[in-house]
Amino acid sequence: MKKLRILPLVHEELVPPDSIEGLSDEEIQDWRTEFDVISALGDLGHEVLPLGMGDDIDPLRSAVREFKPHVVFNLLVEFHGAATYDQHVVSYLELLRQNYTGCNPRGMTLARDKALSKAILSHAGVSVPDFQVFARGKKVRRRNDLELPLFVKSVNEEASLGISLASIVRTDAQLEKRVRYVHEKVGTDAIAEEYIEGREFYVGCLGHERVTTFPLWELFVAGLPEGTPRIATRRVKWDVRYQKEIGIRNGRADLPRDQERRIARQAKRAYRALGLSGYARLDVRMRDDGQFYFLEANPNPDLAYGEDFAESAEAGGLDYEELVQEIVGLGRRYPAEWKANS
Ligand SMILES: Nc1ncnc2c1ncn2[C@@H]1O[C@H](COP(=O)(O)OP(=O)(O)O)[C@@H](O)[C@H]1O
Ligand SMILES: [Mg+2]
Repeated sequence: MKKLRILPLVHEELVPPDSIEGLSDEEIQDWRTEFDVISALGDLGHEVLPLGMGDDIDPLRSAVREFKPHVVFNLLVEFHGAATYDQHVVSYLELLRQNYTGCNPRGMTLARDKALSKAILSHAGVSVPDFQVFARGKKVRRRNDLELPLFVKSVNEEASLGISLASIVRTDAQLEKRVRYVHEKVGTDAIAEEYIEGREFYVGCLGHERVTTFPLWELFVAGLPEGTPRIATRRVKWDVRYQKEIGIRNGRADLPRDQERRIARQAKRAYRALGLSGYARLDVRMRDDGQFYFLEANPNPDLAYGEDFAESAEAGGLDYEELVQEIVGLGRRYPAEWKANS
């Protein structure tokens, strides 16, 4: 395998140490993904120079000039403290004619908007929940044909920010209250979607035009009291103690083959419709009658070892190092526009 110069791009506060010896799980939690990816790149024999960035773009330009990376491994989660600015940093890399891993800027922009992306997916024949957007400063009036119960969330936030059991609303009064909560506490416009009662799945996707999907992953919440909705609230996703307490364990979904195949086919269609590249994880929910709906696409999902994406890749035959190497290779092969013109 060719030894490459690789520049992992990470948030300045998440530059990991060389070793995690003697550190507790809590101490490494914040930068575990960065550590896992950088270690894997090193173990693969590459020359790795991590760059921490905060709100100055100059160091990136200098590093690209001086180190001349074959590829920038994009692990950036924000810039200027804005989570949505990662897409602009990727645009900047394209302007520098620099190869990078993960999603292109247009795909990131389209996927991030939970209303725009649903409009595109529905046009492409991918099944999504019906929805309505409630902008800040406007009256909350539900469309007549959009039936309760609904699920209310931020139109562009991630990581289940602002999501709890109260996100499920069953009356217009609850709808208005939760929309206001998103406006005021999360600070963004809100989207209310058809509430999809049932099971939740994740589909890992890898590729550019030719997309591979990994075996379907499912959210299991064994210890929740009977009747509690199985949704990925903020707590379910991030509170390690709570996860242990109620037995949250994501793993291989147990679905009939033809159903899994149908979900995978639609996932590929969704991936292409949004113009994604590199790798992504798609969130899907399925009602008891077998009807499934795509909730969202997550470009550049968490790559930590042992997390859903890497685990499902492994179930699909790619161990962690192979996955990281595959993502590097895809980054180098991405058909960016500057390549056609140089
Ligand atoms: N329409 C919906 N019906 C049922 N549950 C939903 C719906 N939308 C979101 N959820 C629940 O909320 C979680 C987070 O929503 P999602 O749209 O994936 O946003 P995020 O970007 O925060 O992951 C989902 O994983 C799911 O459990
Ligand atoms: Mg999600």
